[in-house]
Amino acid sequence: MTQRARAVSRYFDEVAATYAARYADRGPAGHALAVRWQRLFELLGAVEGPALDAGCGPGLLLAALGERGIAAVGVDLSARMATEAARRAPAVVGTLDHLPFKGNAFGIVIAMGAVEYVDDDQAALAELTRVLRPDGVLLASFPNRFSPYRIWKNAVFYPVVDRLRPLVSRLRGRPVPASVTAYHHHYTVREVQARLQALGCLVEDVVSLNMQLVPSPLDEWLPWLSVALSRRLERFGRAPIGRLGTAFLVRAVKRR
Ligand SMILES: C[S@@+](CC[C@H](N)C(=O)[O-])C[C@H]1O[C@@H](n2cnc3c(N)ncnc32)[C@H](O)[C@@H]1O
Repeated sequence: MTQRARAVSRYFDEVAATYAARYADRGPAGHALAVRWQRLFELLGAVEGPALDAGCGPGLLLAALGERGIAAVGVDLSARMATEAARRAPAVVGTLDHLPFKGNAFGIVIAMGAVEYVDDDQAALAELTRVLRPDGVLLASFPNRFSPYRIWKNAVFYPVVDRLRPLVSRLRGRPVPASVTAYHHHYTVREVQARLQALGCLVEDVVSLNMQLVPSPLDEWLPWLSVALSRRLERFGRAPIGRLGTAFLVRAVKRR
């Protein structure tokens, strides 16, 4: 396992038991998850399963797909996440860049907030399309390289927090919690479109998500402002201003 995979797996193991509660959070973190989920179901359309949720986390999406009559299986690098998910639907431990499934096995392949954590993200995209059957639909989200919110967070906020975290933990006499802030790829829409096209997919739709304009840590101190602003702007997900979103969601179809 690479250093990145170890750090990512450790972080998501640590948060596995509490991750599902983030969906009920009324602040910016909860809004980001809620809007991604909403857009995902808008873009899904009437596609036949079975579905794969790659990087399924605690399996909330697997359960939601099941409720819509779509058989779904999850895979996650974090053993604890896979255990959480398996309480809701079939789920196994595995990595996106070596998926433990046969080719052309799924009508729907979903990867929400997962590809960016993989060392070899190109291999991950190749695997996601390999297990998708022809005419099947891939729905994947990607962090937006041009999001001002992310640029600030990566250049200023995270480096400061990452320096303070060990100090604060030591003062409290606690172990330093795992962090993945340094292990996060970022993308442009154009780059993702080109990569998926080269893998034999037709990119049908791209929508921006989570128009976060209030920089950290102000977004946490004034969550109502941050969420209210984002909510107002979400409708511009397909307009040029939508490129301010912290992420974008791609719907692609595998060519025959
Ligand atoms: C941000 S969480 C998103 C969870 C879920 N998809 C959701 O939208 O709520 C990212 C998930 O991807 C998983 N993950 C990260 N790298 C992975 C990899 N290489 N292979 C499989 N899963 C991975 C993590 O363990 C974690 O559960």
